[in-house]
Formats: sequence, structure tokens, C-alpha cells
Amino acid sequence: MKITVIGTGYVGLVSGVCFSEFGFDVVCVDNDVEKIIALQMGNIPIYEPGLGKLLLKNTKAGRLSFTSDTRVSVKDANIVFIAVGTPSKSDGSADLSHVYQAIDDLASSINKDAVLVIKSTVPVGTTRAIKKFLLDRGVELDVVFNPEFLKEGAAVEDFMHPDRVILGVESEKAKQVLSHAYRPLYVFNIPIIFTSLETAELSKYASNAFLAMKVTFINEIANLCECCGADVNEVALAMGLDKRIGDQFLQAGPGYGGSCFPKDTSALEDFADKLGVDMPLVNETIRSNENRRGKMVEKILRACDYDIKGKNISVLGVTFKAETDDMRDSPSIDIVSELIKHGANIRIYDPSFSEQAKKIFSNVIWGKNAYDNCNDADAVVIITDWSEFKALNLKELRNRVKNPLLIDLRSMYPVSEVMSSGFSYCSVGRYFEKLEF
Ligand code: UDX
Repeated sequence: MKITVIGTGYVGLVSGVCFSEFGFDVVCVDNDVEKIIALQMGNIPIYEPGLGKLLLKNTKAGRLSFTSDTRVSVKDANIVFIAVGTPSKSDGSADLSHVYQAIDDLASSINKDAVLVIKSTVPVGTTRAIKKFLLDRGVELDVVFNPEFLKEGAAVEDFMHPDRVILGVESEKAKQVLSHAYRPLYVFNIPIIFTSLETAELSKYASNAFLAMKVTFINEIANLCECCGADVNEVALAMGLDKRIGDQFLQAGPGYGGSCFPKDTSALEDFADKLGVDMPLVNETIRSNENRRGKMVEKILRACDYDIKGKNISVLGVTFKAETDDMRDSPSIDIVSELIKHGANIRIYDPSFSEQAKKIFSNVIWGKNAYDNCNDADAVVIITDWSEFKALNLKELRNRVKNPLLIDLRSMYPVSEVMSSGFSYCSVGRYFEKLEF
């Protein structure tokens, strides 16, 4: 089976590499020529554990290649996946221009027996509209919608062992071709669910909005905990043991970011609005998450007695979550920018050494490691939940800082451990006031 994947962002690249690992012949396409040249040389443009190794292995085996020539790449493909970006427009709706550009590029060359699969996240009705767009150009194709549920940082694992595969299909032939493509997953008993195009499209938005709401819910419980003496980590544990609730996405913090939750919740809000359907839970999730960043700045300022002008603040972690170098819509962008506006001297260490972060924060000092980053600090602020921040040697850190104040926006430490190491501690969802050592 020959597979072409158009778009080499997180979804396209991970899908292409993993399909080649299944043993299929895969061509990955992108109109960014520099990116394609880098990929041909084995350099991946994103930080994704395990991806580089699989890319090299399958390129060497001759099953995986990269090109900028869409037309040639689709000529004898059995399946063509569209995995280009659908960023937010200023009104919150999804920008589908890259999707339609890709479809336009392939329309005249695609093998007429191929199945076209939309993997980009698109509003409900788009796959059907694409089918019509092609028909209007005289091209009659099977078009499928196959949402992607990959998490950055665990994308290869998520592709190889997904919880489910959702396929919006309209013909028996498309069902069979896609069943063949995902057959390697049958050994793990992964449910493969066939639905209508619209159901498959909405299932992606509904899943992401629900998870975003879950994160927002625990953040609101965290606010309450700070005012009533409860501990949000323990509340989350107690809730999560109920199988109906589940223990994931209940980690309180600075609010969700990344390339999906903010974009997809806004697109869902916009889509429901256009249909005249009220979705107050989704609307409130978006607003509450936007406000969360300001609350975090207020928390930091209060812990520093509103006196950060000229003070050294050591920031640990700026990517939107751990195990990625992705800065898209990271809470740190707003939080650090506000601290800079208040006159703080910012020093940042992020284990990904993210190039995107270096472009965003051009006027800060970059640390080599967490300890070095904390030398002479008046406050240490953990923003991202990288594993290496979970077990810092606080005694050593204590010797390096000027003022022992730890502000932990992911609540990663037991309160007693921080206090006994001589730090004052301020975290999320435990105590409203900073605890003085
Ligand atoms: C998400 C979805 O999980 C994935 O299925 C979809 O296909 C793409 O969007 P991703 O954006 O990679 O994946 O990150 P995810 O791990 O879901 O985290 C999203 C945000 O929520 C991050 O900012 C993270 O820090 C935050 N989060 C997550 C929390 O604050 N608490 C949690 O308990 C979980």
C-alpha cells in the first residue's frame, strides 16, 4: 500500500513516520522546501521523543521519503492524508485555506482510485464540502475524515497504541482501504469506529473541548482550595479514583495552552454560534482559561510582596507542557511578559532549549540548567511540569538563590518538603498565602 501524507507538522510527520513503521510505503509532502531538505537529511524540525529514530530507520529501509512535489506524490498513492494546519483566525474560526490549497494542488493529479483522508481538524461539514469542491472540478473521490488524538511529547506512542481510531466514511471501499491501513493496530485490540463524516468531525472537537473543560474545572477547584484549606492534588486524587471521572487531566496549573485546546475550543464556540446553539460550558472554559494567566501573575506578584522591579526571577520551564519545545499559546508567554513589564530581570531555563522560546523572549538570560539558572534569584518560578523539576535538590538550590522563595505553578512538591529545605513556598490549589519557612 502506498500512502502520501500532505503536511509535515506534528500530525502529518508522526503519522507518516508511523505508517512507514507499519511497513507501508510513505511519501511525506510539504511546500516548505527547506523543511523537506532537512527531513531528507534526517533532521526533524520538532522535538518529539522517539520520532527521529523511527524516521532514520524507515528512510534507510526505503519505505519513507520526503518531497515538495504534491502532484507527483499523489499519482499512484492508495491513500492521501491531508494533515496541514488549521490555525485560528482572529474571530476564533478555523482557517481552512491550507486545506483547500492542498486539495487544489492535488485535484488534477490524484489517482482516481485513491481514498482522500482529512486528518486536519476541520469544522463539521468541511469534509462533505471538500467532496463537493472536488466534484466541481470533475474529480469524484472517496473522502474520509480521520481525527487525530496525538498528544505532543507522546505522539509516537499515541499513534502506535491509540485508545481508538475514528473514521468518518461513506463507502465500503473506503472502509476496506482504511481498515487495511490501520490493521497493524488490531493486535492490540484497538477499537476502530466507523461513523458518518459529521460525527467523526465533531468527535474531535468534543474530545478536546471536554479535556479542556476538565483542566479548567480542576483549576477552579484549585482556586476554591486556596480559600478553604483543601489540597487540590488530594482532591484530584480522590476524584480520579472514581472510574466515571478518571484520573487524567486533573492536574491544576497555569491553564491549558498548546496548538490544539485553545484553537479547537474557539473553533467549536464559533461553529456552535453560527448554528445558533448555546454552549455556555465551552464559552466559560475559554474565558476562564484566558483569565487564568492573569491570576498566575497576581499570585507571583503577591508572593513577591508586589516588589519585583529590578529583582532576579528564575523561570523554570516555558513550553506549554513538558516533553515538547512547542511554545504555541503557552501560558508562560503572558506570564513572563507581564513580569518583564513589571521590571523583573528574567532568567529562563527550559530543558528543550526551545528555539521558538528564544525568539519570543529575546531580552532574557538563558540558563544552562535549573541550578545555574537560580544563582542569585530573588524568586524561582516553575511554570512547566518537566520531570527534571519534580526532584530538584532544594538544599542545593537554597545555597544558590539570594532569596529562598519557590513559586510552583504546577504544585509538584509536598509542602513539607519545600518548607524543610528552607524555602518559602507558594503553589496552586493548596494555600492562598505564601508559606514562610
Ligand atoms: C491535545 C489532546 O490531548 C490531543 O488528544 C489532541 O489531539 C491535541 O491536543 P496536546 O496539545 O499535545 O494534546 O497536550 P495535552 O497533553 O492534552 O495538554 C494540553 C494542555 O493542558 C497543556 O497546556 C497542559 O499543560 C494542560 N494540562 C493537561 C493541564 O494543565 N493539566 C492536566 O491535567 C492536563
